[in-house]
Amino acid sequence: MSAKLSKMPQDAAADTIQEAVECLKKGDLVAFPTETVYGLGADAANARALEKLYKVKGRPAAHPVIVHIASQEQLHNWAKHVPEAAIKLADAFWPGPLTLILERAPHVLDAVTGGQDTVGLRIPGHPIALNLLRQFQGGVAAPSANRFGRLSPTTADDVRKEFAGEVSAVLDGGPCAVGIESTIIDLTAERPRILRPGMILKEQIEGVLKERVYDSLGISPGSVTRAPGSLKSHYAPKTPLQVLEFAELVSLVQDAIASSEKRYVVLSFRQYPGAHCPIPWVVLEGNAVECARHLYANLRKMDTLSADCILFEKPPASSEWTGINDRLARACAK
Ligand code: TXA
Ligand code: MG
Repeated sequence: MSAKLSKMPQDAAADTIQEAVECLKKGDLVAFPTETVYGLGADAANARALEKLYKVKGRPAAHPVIVHIASQEQLHNWAKHVPEAAIKLADAFWPGPLTLILERAPHVLDAVTGGQDTVGLRIPGHPIALNLLRQFQGGVAAPSANRFGRLSPTTADDVRKEFAGEVSAVLDGGPCAVGIESTIIDLTAERPRILRPGMILKEQIEGVLKERVYDSLGISPGSVTRAPGSLKSHYAPKTPLQVLEFAELVSLVQDAIASSEKRYVVLSFRQYPGAHCPIPWVVLEGNAVECARHLYANLRKMDTLSADCILFEKPPASSEWTGINDRLARACAK
């Protein structure tokens, strides 16, 4: 297997997508761009392809994967019922960074659902992903294209580094525009609830559904959803990460510089307050959309610097930062 199909602009040449479609049909794995993060795709109806996917990703078999589809009509191939709420949300946000959890149709493989009676579905917004899905016609099971527990990739290069030689094709669609994984909303309980926050916000969903939505912390009792994204330690760089208020962060850095005991690297919304900053210090964008877009790339960059710890300035607590705060909290939990 070769990692080819490398350099491609936004609109990948039709024949290269065609090659990727052939790979999927043969049961091989194809990495492709979505607007959120890169996915590692396999034919969702092919048990052998799914087995390969789990093996390459190093993911425990009981964890479900999202099925990516090209059109709303395809929902009926995967879900037992398509509730009114699903149609409203699909109309409002698809193609886009939202995953719907619905009751699964009986034939959906356990390898897709992790043996649960629900299935996650999404129409992604990236033109290359849409093209691939349209030509493939079936559903593509695609977790983020990283090894289990690690940071999701937001460029084709990230994927190639992670899976050199193990993936038949890597479609290159440039850097992902959203930058963190889709918002996941479960529509199978009495009331909709967010299982994983993302850049489509709870308030936006409530605005469309005209009803209250639970968030992941306020979930109804007794519901057990096995979602790797809900494991505490996930989306993590190899270097330990600490999220701190600015003043605390600066004081740690200054102590470390004075004692040369620890090597810190910093991601902060502000400049270093002194004249000359002697450690790697990246100033982050102060708006959530831009910050999310570059979040994983920034963490990856800091992860290459052999530091003892990455210090991240605590982002605001307001709604648009929920997805970012969620990923940071998980990345800190070792
Ligand atoms: O933005 C995204 O969602 C990206 C791109 C590639 O589409 N995909 C992604 O996949 O983040 P993954 O596998 O890394 O994370 C999917 C999350 C997992 O936490 C999984 O447990 C959850 O979705 N999930 C999938 N199917 C589910 C189901 N039936 N019930 C509950 N959670 C589910
Ligand atoms: Mg993932």
